[in-house]
Amino acid sequence: MANFDRVIPRKNTNSYKWDRCEEIFGTDDLIPMWVADMDFEAPKEVKKALKDRIEHGVFGYTFIPDSFYDSIIDWQFSRNNWKIEKDWIITAPGVVPSIKACIQSFTSPGEEIIVQTPVYFPFFSSIRLNGRILVENPLKFSSGNYRMDFEDLERKINDKTRMLILCNPHNPVGRVWKKEELERLGEICLRNNITIVSDEIHSDLIMPGYKHTPIASISKEFSDITVTCTSVSKTFNLAGLSTSYLIISNPVLRNRYVHTAQRNGLLTTNIFGIIALEVSYRYGFKWLDDLIEYLRENRDFVKDFLKERIPSVKTTELEGTYLMWLNFRELGLKQEELKNLLYNEAKVGLQDGVMFGEEGDGFMRMNIACPRSTLEEAMKRMEKAIKKHLKL
Ligand SMILES: Cc1ncc(COP(=O)(O)O)c(C=O)c1O
Repeated sequence: MANFDRVIPRKNTNSYKWDRCEEIFGTDDLIPMWVADMDFEAPKEVKKALKDRIEHGVFGYTFIPDSFYDSIIDWQFSRNNWKIEKDWIITAPGVVPSIKACIQSFTSPGEEIIVQTPVYFPFFSSIRLNGRILVENPLKFSSGNYRMDFEDLERKINDKTRMLILCNPHNPVGRVWKKEELERLGEICLRNNITIVSDEIHSDLIMPGYKHTPIASISKEFSDITVTCTSVSKTFNLAGLSTSYLIISNPVLRNRYVHTAQRNGLLTTNIFGIIALEVSYRYGFKWLDDLIEYLRENRDFVKDFLKERIPSVKTTELEGTYLMWLNFRELGLKQEELKNLLYNEAKVGLQDGVMFGEEGDGFMRMNIACPRSTLEEAMKRMEKAIKKHLKL
């Protein structure tokens, strides 16, 4: 079994998470719990396959073998009961680049794209950088949980609305959208001729008791209007290998996407990403099950810790992803004061909630994909700083 308790030093490895703290937080002596990668080693089979390939020493132009596509087809079927075909799969250097290419393929400048805030913030810049109009359909927050607001969504749709970017599971609020919720969303998009770009990069990281449903797998009609973007990068901690893929069953959408991708040189991946994806999908089942169990324990540790020792800080239920959405509103601090408390007093590098939209005011996102000892230390630091602030 993989040892997720092992602390692996990551400083001085050009790690965004560990080596960019000074720039992000103004100090580098904190525990970084922000950008979404894990402090865990990839599965040993992946390491071995990459080592073997490196040993060969010649890294020339490489094509993608059929076995790569087969591993994706098998994975989607065994994990999500979703039957896909080889032709539907298109490779990309990342989910964000593929979302940008979708925007260019399926919308024109001045047209509107809907996102459900608070949400993964590169959606905002992807829309704006391409001269499209960002329309927010905020999630409803009540009784400590988030739901989609379908009434607001219908109100926001007009004759300029072309696309909705769905985040499933949702980063940062941790929801794994239920089939019924996706059905309702899909019906609205279908009725209004809206293309769905579904970012399912976190879809393998599902907590026990929940189930991921790819929106395109629900019906042929939904599949016809959906582009699914996903990857092994979150699942097996391989973000640095810049390899992802899209699933597009509708040939019209697919051809349009491929045309954009060709124009921009976005179809290529790299020798190591190709190997790592296939090996992860072939041999990573057990590693992933163990990882999810470890993350579940981390989640429960944080939940219990907050309840018992920092009850003024609340969290929404983490159904999927390894990113917990913490609600600090009871502390009554302005966002800048909250950041100061966490970064400069507690010395924990959580991600600023406001980056995900104005609904994130009073919230911070905490990455719990780290060894338990690191998480414990971070929680104790937060407890100390918050108790001092509350004069407890
Ligand atoms: C929802 C979501 N989409 C996309 C990405 C990044 O994908 P990529 O690195 O493949 O561009 C992330 C990373 O945090 C994410 O959380």
